[in-house]
Amino acid sequence: MRQAVHQPVMVETVVRFLLEGGGSRFIDCTVGAGGHCEALMRSAGKALKIYGIDRDPEAIGLARSRLSSRKRVVLTRGNYADLEEIADGWGVSRVDGILTDFGQSSDQLDDPKRGFSHRFDGPLDMRYDTTTGLAAAELINQSSREEIVLILRRYGEVFREAKRIAEAIVRARPLDRTGQLADIVREVCHEPFIQKALARVFMAFRIAVNDELHAIDQLLPQIHRLLVPGGRMVFISYDSHQDRRVKSCLTRLTGACTCPPGLPVCVCGARRELEILTRRVVRPTQSEVQTNPRCRSARLRAAVKLGQ
Ligand SMILES: C[S@@+](CC[C@H](N)C(=O)[O-])C[C@H]1O[C@@H](n2cnc3c(N)ncnc32)[C@H](O)[C@@H]1O
Repeated sequence: MRQAVHQPVMVETVVRFLLEGGGSRFIDCTVGAGGHCEALMRSAGKALKIYGIDRDPEAIGLARSRLSSRKRVVLTRGNYADLEEIADGWGVSRVDGILTDFGQSSDQLDDPKRGFSHRFDGPLDMRYDTTTGLAAAELINQSSREEIVLILRRYGEVFREAKRIAEAIVRARPLDRTGQLADIVREVCHEPFIQKALARVFMAFRIAVNDELHAIDQLLPQIHRLLVPGGRMVFISYDSHQDRRVKSCLTRLTGACTCPPGLPVCVCGARRELEILTRRVVRPTQSEVQTNPRCRSARLRAAVKLGQ
């Protein structure tokens, strides 16, 4: 098994927010190469038990070899959309803290055979779980021009060039390499927008292939239900889709009223069920960005569940 290259992001902040609440049972919904998990174990010592999930069999392999000496770590391959079902399988009904570090790891991004990056030529795959579901090539080759436009607009926020990129994709099909998709974007878009367009087009198909936004929407209420009162939740997002979902879920659970303006009494049933610990989103320090430029878009939010 190769060594993990992924550097965990904002480690000290993650560890502080999670451990400050006390308790000994934690879930890492996106264990990846196990960097955050290892830091938590190191900071808290033997008393901690961590349950880790990842959708990617290779990530579970990396985490397993990194954490092999840690007897109190349980790792499961699965989708965090099924968090409560997975926890049930562990025999766990309540935990003291839950971490979710969205997105991809460097181990995935830098591996050409995974197809996540426009920087390398490789199979057009992009699945976190390579054992199931449609790879990006199948999705792209089977979708209509209109569906591709929708994917580019909705998930990549590619607006102006969406139709022209979709038309070029349809003309060039069948695609099976990341290099083909990247060449299409380079032909359709112009400098100085090519790099941004490449990132957005690849992001759009990655989100579609993995049904990422649906998985996040499924996950968030389950995190709240699984935590003990006083339990902590920590999220690291890397794009506006992820952060918007986290922010709106946290805001709703603070009891912010969502009634239409002008109603004499609140009818939406808003209840204050958590307190946000990060009044403003936390970003990595300049020195962290210097040593790990990939973390520059990271945004961390943390909250504590209220109640008896
Ligand atoms: C940024 S990495 C996590 C890195 C990890 N915190 C570390 O310290 O090494 C994000 C991980 O989330 C996983 N992932 C993405 N979507 C998932 C899902 N729906 N369920 C479970 N894991 C998922 C990816 O496979 C990837 O390994």
